[in-house]
Amino acid sequence: MKKKLLSVILSVAMAATLLVGCGSAATDTAATGSSDAAATDTTGAGKRVAVAMPTQSSERWINDGANMKAQLEELGYEVDLQYAEDDVQMQVSQIENMIAAGANCLVIAAVDSSALVNVEAQAKDAGIPIIAYDRLLMDTDAVSYYATFDNKGVGTAIGEYIKANATKDGNKGLDAVKSAGLTMNVEFLMGSPDDNNALMLYNGLMEVLKPYLDDGTLVCKSGRTSFEDTCILRWSQETAQQNMENYLTGFYADEDIDIVASAFDGFAYGAKAALEGAGYTSENWPMITGQDAELMATKNIIAGSQTMSIYKDTRLLASKCVTMVEAVVNGSEPEINDTEQYNNGKITVPSYLCTPVAVDVNNYKEIIVDGGYYTEAQLSE
Ligand code: BGC
Repeated sequence: MKKKLLSVILSVAMAATLLVGCGSAATDTAATGSSDAAATDTTGAGKRVAVAMPTQSSERWINDGANMKAQLEELGYEVDLQYAEDDVQMQVSQIENMIAAGANCLVIAAVDSSALVNVEAQAKDAGIPIIAYDRLLMDTDAVSYYATFDNKGVGTAIGEYIKANATKDGNKGLDAVKSAGLTMNVEFLMGSPDDNNALMLYNGLMEVLKPYLDDGTLVCKSGRTSFEDTCILRWSQETAQQNMENYLTGFYADEDIDIVASAFDGFAYGAKAALEGAGYTSENWPMITGQDAELMATKNIIAGSQTMSIYKDTRLLASKCVTMVEAVVNGSEPEINDTEQYNNGKITVPSYLCTPVAVDVNNYKEIIVDGGYYTEAQLSE
């Protein structure tokens, strides 16, 4: 546990040191600690940005918060970073306090994307602009911009990975499995129903996999294939493990499961625990997908107990979000690449979508290690 915490701290420290060259025009005073290397760009001096993050229970949000804080501080902003530990009411109170303290801008990654409507209206009345971070803020006209990854693209990438790599009796890829007249068993662990990203991911995934479910190449023995039947509230790892345990005892007593289509690294950890509990070994271990390329997930990919994940460079996401903060606080032009997809029920929010990348044992070195996200040393601890 201590070791894990140390790894997380190292990865955050590393991410913070790597911020230079990530789109910020500021010099590296924070990383070097050198006081005479004055920042060239202190557009944030005297201004405060409040950043509301959902939880520290998952590594990715720890990195997101650390990256946002470091990049904003580089520009001279004072940063109030708070985590709500997946508690909706706690996040509402945190945002109320941020408004009362007089922030110049609010950056919010919501616990529940629809539960902040009142507090968002309060911010608007107080003249405080809001930027949605990673998760769209629903049913409000108080949000100015949205920085995220291509959320449907995450689902499509997971689906395409399964389609190309699922292997049965030496037949690689679902088309080859189908041609050989074989079938593969699959179960789904999908994201939180109160997070707009989760349904988008599901839709992207099903765009690729539904034809194989329809023609019987993929068999879901539990019959749970709809989003309503497979979503997991608050992205809970425990619920994912429980669901997997139920699937294994209920439907896989006589036959092995071949594919766990999971939408999150946390679910992959839960599935791994359930499979180990049910006696699965490397002989019959299924393909398991994930999302976020957390340090633990990347280690599991190397060890073979998780098959792939979706790498989301949180340094890049933070840098795009910072351009939006600059836009609302200082009137500069933000980077936007989507003005159509993200309607929150009230308005279509101008967005920047970063590109998600599928990683597995074959490309993690090139993408993750060479990209400076984790070092080989962190991965071999
Ligand atoms: C994010 C994912 C993350 C999930 C669980 C989603 O909103 O887009 O990257 O895995 O939340 O934290």
